[in-house]
Amino acid sequence: MKEIITNYDDLLEMLDSLLREPTKFWEDFYSDREKEIPFFVNKPDENLVEYFEKKLFKQGKVLELGCGPGRNAIYFAEKGCLVDAVDLSQKSIQWATERANEKNVNVNFICDNIFNLQIEEGIYDYVYDTGCFHHIAPQKNELY
Ligand SMILES: C[S@@+](CC[C@H](N)C(=O)[O-])C[C@H]1O[C@@H](n2cnc3c(N)ncnc32)[C@H](O)[C@@H]1O
Repeated sequence: MKEIITNYDDLLEMLDSLLREPTKFWEDFYSDREKEIPFFVNKPDENLVEYFEKKLFKQGKVLELGCGPGRNAIYFAEKGCLVDAVDLSQKSIQWATERANEKNVNVNFICDNIFNLQIEEGIYDYVYDTGCFHHIAPQKNELY
């Protein structure tokens, strides 16, 4: 951490240094698949199901941010969407891939930090997040 803050980047660096490193946290988090965590259950979000039932969502190209073990990405794919799904945890991506294979659906799972994504404007019809953004520190919020 810099001792003297002279510009905005120095400030962001200082704030980042106060936070836990997210990759290790999430890798540890996914080390036990038997934990009683609501989103470990392989069921999509109720609101997402409702969006499709009410025809608010239809087939399209989807980017899911922080997809975890893949329950929503897989549901989008089952609904006929083309899905890119990103998570920084290798363990979660491995789990998500196994689940997609079991259901015989195709999802492009990407193991990376969402801040590293190079996204061409307008290529996605939907960008979906459940529970990823609220783990992002406020100083990073230029992303959204
Ligand atoms: C609360 S979990 C939700 C998982 C999934 N969306 C679900 O609802 O089943 C948050 C997820 O965001 C991922 N995540 C957090 N920060 C991230 C980042 N900067 N880049 C990519 N993934 C991130 C974590 O690894 C974790 O899988």
